[in-house]
Amino acid sequence: MRRKLVVGNWKMHGNLAQNQGLLDALAAALNDRTGADFGVCVPFPYLFQAQAALTGTRLSWGAQDVSEHAQGAYTGEVSAAMLNDFGARYALVGHSERRALYGEDDERVAKKFVAAARAGLIPILCVGESLGEREGGVTEAVVARQLDAVIEAAGLDLFARAVVAYEPVWAIGTGKTATPEQAQAVHAFIRERVAQASRELADRLTIQYGGSVKAANAAQLFAMPDIDGGLIGGASLVAEEFVAICMAA
Ligand code: 13P
Repeated sequence: MRRKLVVGNWKMHGNLAQNQGLLDALAAALNDRTGADFGVCVPFPYLFQAQAALTGTRLSWGAQDVSEHAQGAYTGEVSAAMLNDFGARYALVGHSERRALYGEDDERVAKKFVAAARAGLIPILCVGESLGEREGGVTEAVVARQLDAVIEAAGLDLFARAVVAYEPVWAIGTGKTATPEQAQAVHAFIRERVAQASRELADRLTIQYGGSVKAANAAQLFAMPDIDGGLIGGASLVAEEFVAICMAA
């Protein structure tokens, strides 16, 4: 049985005071919930705050991006080792906003994945198609390309550390959630794709769904056989809403 994993992606939201209230509320509500795993991916400056608030709780924290480089003259970048310094467990790689707004291609995403995994972090590899790609019938081709680029670059030993998040771009921040059946179909496809390299790894792989998950639709999504939890954007900024989603897992 795969454990469910629910991770909040705060994106570029929050401030010290708001975060503290949110982190304290999450720790209080979720610390004795042992049935699933929970985490938050915060903006870099707040990693220390997340570490201070969540150390000793059952919640983990992580970052929303990571450099593909180990160290050096890369102004503005943050390395996987630095994330480790702050106790981070997760690093998102290849979020669709990074791909679309910052020009991250499959090759760069794969390098970031490798850097994170080598440093001992759990990379959460985000994949997903745009609306045009879905309507053009190339959802599986797009997701396969995004996955294969990483599996090829990382190899199975490193890929075994990964979490995959299926986030259809058209469902992110739009209120248009994929139906449980739509999401399940792509999750099953992802698992089969990984199974072509290793059945055992595919069976163990955590595949989260992300895109307008709310308390009201989380339980139906998480009930699908290949949906192993969620990567939550907007709803992770509201303590009661995020806690309710975690409870659904
Ligand atoms: P929303 O939950 O706000 O749609 O965002 C999903 C997402 O991008 C999580 O990484």
